[in-house]
Amino acid sequence: MTETENTYHQAPDEILGAPRGCPVHQDWNPLGDDYLADPYPIAAQLRDDHPVFYAEEVGYVVVTRMEDVEEVFTNPDIYASSNVQDPLYPLDERATDVLAAPDFNPTAVMSNRAEPDHARIRVYTRKGFSKRRLRTLEDYMRERANALLDAMLDTGASNGNRAEYVKALAFPLPAEIVFRFIGFPQNDDEMIKQWCVERKAFSWGRPTPEEQIRIAEHMLTYWRYCREFTADRRDNRSDDFASELLDAHDADNNELSYIEVESIIYGLSFAGHDPVTNLLCNTLLCLLPRRDQWQALVDDPSLIPNAVEETLRFESSQIAWRRVTTQDTTLGGIDLPAGTRLFLNFASANRQPDRFDDPNTFNIHRPDASRHISFGKGIHYCLGANLAKMEAVIALELLTQRVPSLRLADVDENTYFPNITFRGPDALWVEWD
Ligand code: HEM
Repeated sequence: MTETENTYHQAPDEILGAPRGCPVHQDWNPLGDDYLADPYPIAAQLRDDHPVFYAEEVGYVVVTRMEDVEEVFTNPDIYASSNVQDPLYPLDERATDVLAAPDFNPTAVMSNRAEPDHARIRVYTRKGFSKRRLRTLEDYMRERANALLDAMLDTGASNGNRAEYVKALAFPLPAEIVFRFIGFPQNDDEMIKQWCVERKAFSWGRPTPEEQIRIAEHMLTYWRYCREFTADRRDNRSDDFASELLDAHDADNNELSYIEVESIIYGLSFAGHDPVTNLLCNTLLCLLPRRDQWQALVDDPSLIPNAVEETLRFESSQIAWRRVTTQDTTLGGIDLPAGTRLFLNFASANRQPDRFDDPNTFNIHRPDASRHISFGKGIHYCLGANLAKMEAVIALELLTQRVPSLRLADVDENTYFPNITFRGPDALWVEWD
């Protein structure tokens, strides 16, 4: 086992400029209002102009074509994932001070851990996502989804059959599922949810100094909670992921260290629910205005899994991810020096015309919808992909069966939290007969 690595690196104060010979875009900003409102036409234009280019506003080389994104994902020796959680811009000193607390020491364990440690740890994290564990969660998922939907319909009935879907279901359901998966006690749900909101601003947005400090404080509190929880589980095992990790640690401390167990538990809470909240909303954003496709799901629920895949392609909850080059290399005909920070643009790759027929049309019957890149590819391929899809399928099964008249309300008012990666509406008002 090698030395542990810190989870977060400070964004560099000085960044490499445009590689020699690389086209430069001076204005495009993935945090710009126009891109946040509708990234797809802009992403396509950028891809058609220059498949690989340097975006001066953020200091990243942007990779827009599917073949180049896949090349990056499948060559981890050349393209490291060490920067995937790093703040986009340098942090305010006061936020850094909060995270300098001597007991804030989560270690990189999954998406930003290098080989060979990543592979060693992934043996255990993969086991945790076994089919058996997903099956044990499925009943709980249905029960909670039904209960949240009951509450949404009840409360909505006194508000003209209207409800805000994020608050009613899309946020609480994935959060509670991942907390049960880990093994957190149900009584702590509300408290933990408060600590996990806003995390996307920290690593993928541009929070104000005050926001950075608040988020850093939540991260510290949540880390301490995870440590206490792990210590408690050490003495009181149960049928959950945390207990499985502790069993593996007990079996061989060299294979999985105690701090790695604590850090996996800490890291999953965010990875495991925010993108699913977005996915649940995005399925409705795609389906509800296309009445014929919604009706097709009402009539034949067996079409739902492919509708979820098509949502992941057409309106993904994750539209970009990052890497950094470890050595001089060439990508898409552009020479990149070691240390080049890459912005992999899923929004352009998932709608590439030579990969998907008629890519700007949402089609639940698309035969190759699942060939999207939204869960990544290669050694870091999303561990929660099946869990996320199962949640989206269950939510759609219930909605199509119980509220077939569901439709969007106030759709023009959708806003998207400014960040470079995660995409889903901040709020989603729905109504029904
Ligand atoms: C729609 C929902 C989700 C999307 C779009 C998504 C997307 C991704 C992406 C793009 C990656 C990075 C792949 C790479 O770096 O090559 C990733 C990694 C990961 N995801 Fe997800 N994810 C989702 C849901 C979940 C859930 C529900 C969980 C867990 C409960 C989860 C856990 C992870 C973990 C642990 C990794 C790191 C795997 C590794 O490095 O070995 N994700 N995900």
